[in-house]
Amino acid sequence: MKELKGKKYHIITFGCQMNEHDSETIAGLLQTEGCSEAEDRSDADIVIINTCSVRENADKRFFGTLGQLKKQKAIKPGFTACVCGCMMQQEHIVSAIRRQYPWVDVIFGTHNIDEFPDMLLQLYQSRAAALEDAGKTAGNEDLIPLSDRDYTRAKHEIRSARESRVERIYEDRKEIVEGLPARRLYRHKAFVNIMYGCNNFCTYCIVPYTRGREKSRHPEDILREVRQLVSDGVKEVTLLGQNVNSYRGVSPEDDRTWDFADLIYALNEIEDLERIRFMTSHPKDLSDKLIQAFRDCGKLCHYIHLPVQCGSTEILGRMNRRYTREHYLALVKKLREAVPDITISTDIIVGFPGETEEDFCQTLDLVKEVEYDSAFTFLYSKRHGTPAAEYEDQIPEEVKHQRFDRLVDALNGISLRKNQAYIGRTEKVLVDSISRKGTGTLSGRTDGFKLVDFSGSEDLIGSTVDVEITEGKTFSLRGRRK
Ligand code: 5AD
Ligand code: SF4
Repeated sequence: MKELKGKKYHIITFGCQMNEHDSETIAGLLQTEGCSEAEDRSDADIVIINTCSVRENADKRFFGTLGQLKKQKAIKPGFTACVCGCMMQQEHIVSAIRRQYPWVDVIFGTHNIDEFPDMLLQLYQSRAAALEDAGKTAGNEDLIPLSDRDYTRAKHEIRSARESRVERIYEDRKEIVEGLPARRLYRHKAFVNIMYGCNNFCTYCIVPYTRGREKSRHPEDILREVRQLVSDGVKEVTLLGQNVNSYRGVSPEDDRTWDFADLIYALNEIEDLERIRFMTSHPKDLSDKLIQAFRDCGKLCHYIHLPVQCGSTEILGRMNRRYTREHYLALVKKLREAVPDITISTDIIVGFPGETEEDFCQTLDLVKEVEYDSAFTFLYSKRHGTPAAEYEDQIPEEVKHQRFDRLVDALNGISLRKNQAYIGRTEKVLVDSISRKGTGTLSGRTDGFKLVDFSGSEDLIGSTVDVEITEGKTFSLRGRRK
């Protein structure tokens, strides 16, 4: 599309890995049309905010960032402001944008990413038509003093944005769109969606409303994508889905339905692929077959993210998680028996409506029993349109915060102890990047997903090296190359 060629874009991503990967796809689509990434947001012709509705204060952060774009729009002719992602699947958010941010040019949802270049084209065409009309009626622009001209133009641009805004949202399409390009963050590792959406309706969660119903990709499409990635130099893939354990992909070749473990076994056969990871795994659907796959498939990393959310069976019921505390603990035991060195991380929500001190102590107890390697902790917060937002027994903020701090203390103590136990061991580390600590220090991940910093030169990025662990900290390890 000649209208897009040469334009510079900048993407601001909020939220989870699914969103990160959507942003990679958006970048891939734009690059295919001849756009390039801007060095900085202020250089960009097109800014896209990819939103999240799960994280806390997501609304506040999003509207704050959006407000800043208005200034950019006012001074840069032809500037295009786009918003997409989970929040755009919520009607009250979209109507707030229409009301308070009428200068936003393009709004699209999680089901319309592939249509983005086409939406931009539509925008540019209607803008051109509007400008032509305005030119005819406004008369001779040269008569407007220079200082006022910018102002006039900015006002005009904002008006024409409102008139030509392109919106494609809400509808959940049946078919998965295959073959979209992606501009990956790393050369040596990649995210691969194996399914979209969620059917679980945990009572606190907005995802089933924003990402729609569960849909699995065909196994052949996934295998083809991974083979292609590997031939481009990728060594590690992370399979993404809201609940990968309920993957059911139908092969168009023989109509056979593959489950998640079948997929792992097939991916394990791909030559030159080194590591397979996945995210996220719902405890209610974790099968014995998958546990067996950890033993049989050498490329499947010994790491699992297994969100527990809460340690009280009563609260788990109100969350609609459909497992009990005992079931969860039995799963952990089974995993550890099958794979003794497996590392386990989790998500925990503190202060879900109705959570008593006793319920909370059960969470603390469970954390100590499982001994998680790491955990993401969340203060419960209401999500508009979810059942739990209507529950009457909401927990006061100060109680939530106090419990949160107690939980984090317990988790951090365990992480530190577990990480210190690595001292003296040699781990295989896939090197990701220069460490945030500065030049000369590299960062990578062990098979068990532990972050390791060590000294080394940049040319090691993308390779797997042996590192002897010399220090265990709460959130990372330090080591030296063997
Ligand atoms: N409040 C707090 N945490 C939430 N999560 C999802 N919805 C909410 C909410 N309303 C957390 C869950 C989930 C993680 C991605 O985000 O722990 O596993
Ligand atoms: Fe949300 Fe539950 Fe689905 Fe996870 S499984 S995305 S928490 S509804």
